[in-house]
Order: sequence, then C-alpha cells, then structure tokens
Amino acid sequence: MRIIVGISGASGVVMGCSLLKALREVGVETHLVVSEAAARTFLCETSLRLEDVKALADVSYDSRDMAAAIASGSFASDGMAVVPCSMKTLAGIVCGYADNLLLRAADVCLKEGRRLVLVPRETPLSRVHLRNLLSAAELGCAIVPPMLTFYGGADTVEKQIDHIVGKIFSQFGLSYKKGTSWNGAR
Ligand SMILES: Cc1cc2nc3c(=O)[nH]c(=O)nc-3n(C[C@H](O)[C@H](O)[C@H](O)COP(=O)(O)O)c2cc1C
Repeated sequence: MRIIVGISGASGVVMGCSLLKALREVGVETHLVVSEAAARTFLCETSLRLEDVKALADVSYDSRDMAAAIASGSFASDGMAVVPCSMKTLAGIVCGYADNLLLRAADVCLKEGRRLVLVPRETPLSRVHLRNLLSAAELGCAIVPPMLTFYGGADTVEKQIDHIVGKIFSQFGLSYKKGTSWNGAR
C-alpha cells in the first residue's frame, strides 16, 4: 500500500508523526508533505527537527513543489490522510483552491475518487468550519476529528493519539495494534 500523509499547521502536528511511524510498522509506503505553517507549528509545539519528521516517511516533498509526483493523478496511491487538518487547509480542499502541494495532492485524491481522510483540529468550531466540514463529507472525505476517548484505558495523551491513529487506519482498511476498540460492556 502507498498512502500520502499531509501535515498542516493546526495544533497536534505530532499526530502526523505517530501516523507515519505506525504506517511504517505495517509496511505501508508513505509520501509526506508538510505545509509551511506546519513547520512553524512543529517549532511551537515540539522539539522535533523537520529533517527527523521527514525521515519518518519513505518520500517527502517540499510543499511549494507543484511538479512533485503526488501533484498528479498518474501517481498511484491508496489515498491521503491530512493529520492534523487546519481550518485553512480544510477550506482549500472544499473549494479546490490548490495553492500548495498538500492541497494539490488532496485535490488529486478527490478528482481521482481516492480515499481522503481529514483529521480536522480546531475548537470551538465556527459556522464556517462546520459548513466546510459538511462540504468535505459531501465530497466523500472521511472526517476523523481527534476527539478525546475515555474507554479502553486511553488515559494518556500518547494513548489518545494511538486511538486516533487506529481510527485513521480503519479508514484505509488497516488494523492498528495500539488502537483502542470497544468490544461491548462487561
Ligand atoms: C501553535 C499553533 C497552533 C495552531 N493551531 C491551529 C488549530 O488547531 N487549528 C487551525 O485551524 N489552525 C491552527 N493554527 C493556525 C494555522 O497554522 C494557520 O491557519 C495556517 O495558515 C494554516 O496553514 P496550512 O493549512 O497551510 O498549514 C495554529 C498555529 C500555530 C502557530
């Protein structure tokens, strides 16, 4: 399998790293694009170096490189996950306003009918955000917000992230061993 991972500048860029690590563990080939704003958010929220983030993927691209392979429908993939998805990137996706490589790759997934999974992160959500989320769902995107989870022993931030990664995996028909699932009350 081959999945494109987009990391945009919303809070929680570390979730994108967790997804990349988990995909590597199960042998999925990953193609990464980090938006310019996400590079800034990495600086604000983590001590990670961008080179180390990029090294988590099999291939990484400059977000300004509109001639990159993932900018074309002829690049075969099993879809894309945008983790986290900022409200600006969400707006770009639903409007087809593809002014960076992340947005172009998402636009390509839509036009080619490929899976596009969005992990939108903002709170509170305005009516604009909510309208755009509905538009994205109507366009066929899977909306997987990083909601807090209180079952399955998800009592640390790391476990919360594992839960989200598990939910993203499910969208691609993959199973994540660290994901928490509900198997009925005892
Ligand atoms: C530390 C930090 C946290 C941010 N958190 C959010 C957020 O949770 N959601 C959001 O939509 N934007 C957030 N932003 C603002 C986005 O980075 C900004 O809108 C940016 O233009 C998004 O660009 P991109 O979508 O191309 O990555 C945050 C910015 C910073 C610096």
